[in-house]
Amino acid sequence: RSAPTRPRPLEGRRVLVTSGPTHEPIDPVRYLANRSSGRQGHAIAEAAAQAGAAVTLISGPVALPDPPGVAVVRVETAREMMAAVEAALPAEIAVFAAAVADWRPETEATDKKIKKDGSGPAPLALAENPDILSTIAHRSEGRPGLVVGFAAETDSVLEHARAKIARKGCDLIVANDVSAEGAVMGGAENAVHLIGRDGSVESWPRAAKEEVARRLVARIAELHPAVGP
Ligand code: CTP
Ligand code: CA
Repeated sequence: RSAPTRPRPLEGRRVLVTSGPTHEPIDPVRYLANRSSGRQGHAIAEAAAQAGAAVTLISGPVALPDPPGVAVVRVETAREMMAAVEAALPAEIAVFAAAVADWRPETEATDKKIKKDGSGPAPLALAENPDILSTIAHRSEGRPGLVVGFAAETDSVLEHARAKIARKGCDLIVANDVSAEGAVMGGAENAVHLIGRDGSVESWPRAAKEEVARRLVARIAELHPAVGP
């Protein structure tokens, strides 16, 4: 008895997904990061693989198993994630679900732990990390045909997400409310709004992150239909 065959609308497509946080080392034991479990990004990679795509998942540090059928590249910092994304291209579809740390310590971390010396903390100067989504979406050559970004907002979610889609140059933004009441971060469920380039908004009911991933992959397949028979 064979399992029912799933539809494979992304057969033959190359899909790149970023997921998880990035860690920006201050010293060997301390780092700066954004909050992210990687659950939503990993679920998208798995759903895309189940839809037949050849998936490369570029993941920051997460406590999740590698999704089955997906090529996983593990990175730590935003700059490593940027380099891994460049190396994984070309791809027809790119989904940037990672919670990339916006800043890193300006001075490179050494292998020596910074010690408290009783005179209070030293100031921490920051440098801005490369914006991976914006860099790839604004590329004139080798831009994936469909570029999907995420927006994590605590307030004025739609307003901020609309501004973000224009600024980042992506084709679609998946916006989620990460305010405390949302309890999205680290949780099993997500409630998202899909925002199109024309400013259109589609709000999806709260669902398991795996279900949100399957719906998103189905939408991506509609927006980027496979060529061929
Ligand atoms: N992103 C990225 N590289 C960065 C920062 C963000 O690729 N250095 C991507 C994220 O993966 C996400 C989108 O950009 O798909 C939006 O991330 P978000 O943190 O919501 O937006 P920012 O532009 O960083 O703005 P802010 O944090 O100030 O809201
Ligand atoms: Ca950010």
